[in-house]
Amino acid sequence: MAKVVKISRRSIKLAAELLRNGEIVIFPTETVYGLGASVFNPEAVAKIFEVKRRPRFDPLIIHIAAVDDMPRLCQRVGERAEKLAAKFWPGPLTLILPKKETVPDIVTAGLPNVAVRMPAHPVALSLIQEAGTPIAAPSANLFGRLSPTAIKHIPAQLKNRVALILDAGKTPIGVESTVLSLVGKDIVLLRPGGLPIEDIEKIVGKVKLPKFLPAKPNSPGQLPQHYSPRTPLKIINRNINIDRKQKIGLLSLTPPSFSEAYAKIAVLSTKGDLREAAANLFECLHELDQAGLDIIYAEPVPKIGLGRAIMDRLERAAQNGANSKIE
Ligand code: TXA
Ligand code: MG
Repeated sequence: MAKVVKISRRSIKLAAELLRNGEIVIFPTETVYGLGASVFNPEAVAKIFEVKRRPRFDPLIIHIAAVDDMPRLCQRVGERAEKLAAKFWPGPLTLILPKKETVPDIVTAGLPNVAVRMPAHPVALSLIQEAGTPIAAPSANLFGRLSPTAIKHIPAQLKNRVALILDAGKTPIGVESTVLSLVGKDIVLLRPGGLPIEDIEKIVGKVKLPKFLPAKPNSPGQLPQHYSPRTPLKIINRNINIDRKQKIGLLSLTPPSFSEAYAKIAVLSTKGDLREAAANLFECLHELDQAGLDIIYAEPVPKIGLGRAIMDRLERAAQNGANSKIE
């Protein structure tokens, strides 16, 4: 069997068996592709950090297929988590809760808390069920780089080092899950993502947005430079003066009226729909990044609904003056 395989009962069974045997596999979720290992196998989890070149201080999300799996992972679930899970799972929401001792420390990077989510992708859910274990998985990219929304985005050095890759085509949501901390009195947003905070606030009330990035991030998705293409990226206004000597790419929400100045243009959504824009964001950034440009100009989008996650990723990508440092 080839390493990149189409979805079938057989390929999911094989992936599950590999996970049970301590191998790592790439699988689809509704947000982005994940690089998974059996959560209770610390050696398998260690492979994820190695292959991704991820620092050991950056904890992983645990993917479950049933709410019943929660007590195996968290000390107490609590009313807020129960409500959110009932409303939004399976879906792009990750909850941070106090950890059970049985979760290996490597998964949570030594933190007393654990990140859990139930993905809304039929392949991810069957894989977790077949494997008979929750799956620890980060996005299937090298640390600090763009998350893959299709197999073609995954770099060879990562592909070559996994046991199997389940190819389900483009992932429907296209940005990573929203990460929400429930460990304190306040509900705190650690990463805006595929579930808008407006929807969350309707269920549990006010969500706190940290004003400053913590010096030592409690969610490395909060590192100022993250989610980066290799090409420098700048967030611009429509009326910017363009340096004609440079090869410039444009990332815009809707088709631009003025296009001659750009060597390549990527449009997020012809209708200006933020959900569609989020689904296309990483694909567009991957395309622009491969076009041999000097710089990518990105137009801002409104910070409402999924626009908040889009702007978060663009603002972090715009910090990539120090690209070389991150690897
Ligand atoms: O949509 C997603 O969340 C994708 C798919 C594969 O599920 N996964 C993903 O994982 O984006 P990753 O590892 O690329 O991002 C996980 C984020 C990181 O910012 C990490 O620091 C944070 O979640 N995180 C994980 N465990 C945590 C914990 N115990 N406390 C605080 N933050 C945590
Ligand atoms: Mg990631």
